[in-house]
Amino acid sequence: GSDSAELQEKTLVLVKPDAVQRRLVGDVIKRFERRGFKLVGMKLLQANHGILDKHYHQLRQKPFYPSLLAYMTSGPLVAMVWEGYNVVRSTRAMVGDTNSAEAKPGTIRGDFSMHVSRNVVHASDSVEMAHKEIGFWFHSDELVAWECSDRDYTY
Ligand code: TYD
Repeated sequence: GSDSAELQEKTLVLVKPDAVQRRLVGDVIKRFERRGFKLVGMKLLQANHGILDKHYHQLRQKPFYPSLLAYMTSGPLVAMVWEGYNVVRSTRAMVGDTNSAEAKPGTIRGDFSMHVSRNVVHASDSVEMAHKEIGFWFHSDELVAWECSDRDYTY
């Protein structure tokens, strides 16, 4: 069995503006639900430079950063928090490689994205980054703890 801390691992997923435009929000959510993860936070919002400068802090000096900002502010995005056992690593695997040409078919990027600059989703790359990123996008009272009555979460 696993202890409850592992089962309550959380990660941040952003359904980026290109995916909202393409009506892919439902497809993305469906994959995480099917996998068995629990949705504990979700909102549609228009991102601004302030939050993106925090979220993409390590990329601020990159040549593509201005176009990344333009893309990420081009329309609303959906921010979600998913919870479950090893959710950070599992979600990265489900999202696929940053570079769309390397993203394997069956992954979100491998199925829906053609180019790194329009790669449909963001997912935190470590438990530590997930904790930070969730703090950038959500107030603690926007996360909902709820019990699944219809499935066994003790492995
Ligand atoms: P990164 O953190 O390297 O990848 P990931 O999103 O897989 O964690 O990069 C963040 C985002 O920056 C990436 O999803 C898309 C954008 N980006 C570009 O637009 N061009 C690039 O060459 C790279 C490396 C990233």
